[in-house]
Amino acid sequence: MRKKIVAGNWKMNNDLDQTMSLIEDLKNLESKGVCVMIAPAFPFLKISKDLLEDYQIEVISQNVHQKSKGAYTGEVSIDMLKSIGISTTLIGHSERRAYFNEDDIVLFEKVRCTLDAGMNIIFCFGEDLKDRKSNKHFDIVKNQLENTVLKLKKESWENIILAYEPVWAIGTGETASPEQAQEMHQYVRNCISKCYDESVSESISILYGGSVKPSNANEIFSKKDVDGGLIGGAALLASDFNEIIKVNS
Ligand code: PGA
Repeated sequence: MRKKIVAGNWKMNNDLDQTMSLIEDLKNLESKGVCVMIAPAFPFLKISKDLLEDYQIEVISQNVHQKSKGAYTGEVSIDMLKSIGISTTLIGHSERRAYFNEDDIVLFEKVRCTLDAGMNIIFCFGEDLKDRKSNKHFDIVKNQLENTVLKLKKESWENIILAYEPVWAIGTGETASPEQAQEMHQYVRNCISKCYDESVSESISILYGGSVKPSNANEIFSKKDVDGGLIGGAALLASDFNEIIKVNS
């Protein structure tokens, strides 16, 4: 079912003390009607989950490896996440694509294995500046989706959340205009509708990510096809994160 979602992607920030203290601050969130998620770094997922046991904040992971186990030094498997109660993961964040060479082939493997294992995913996609400037953004996004999630069967979409994150807006302070976000979200919904049907496209939550902050959240989230946000920098400050959530409630 289409939901309002605000997810905080903490990336490679916060040590143990900082993680615990930010979680303490998040306990006072006003999140009526909004699903709130946070993605701390791997070493702190378990403690974050324990600390939030009695709160309506889902702890999710930033990444997962597609193989079930074995000699993959430094990686974390789906079963490892499940064994500590994590049931949702980001897949395909642009930083994974850019710095860790995760291409559509690897990402499709990750998507398939994670969904097969009964987990939920937030699948990220988005064009870079060059593609936007040369007006190729719709084709690029369509391609990213056709090579991955649009290959799945209809039933899988019950466990998918999408996040449109134009690379040029991530961590840059530059945000897509509300119109640019709406236009792309609507385009993506149409692609889903064409591939499956309207019942799927209308039930999917599509988040926007890229320099969302309290000052611009309202305008972006008021757009009809924007169902919330994936928040990086502003999720590291409880007061900012709370403001962004309040806009959605
Ligand atoms: P940002 O990051 O809000 O700092 O731009 C968003 C993201 O990478 O998910």
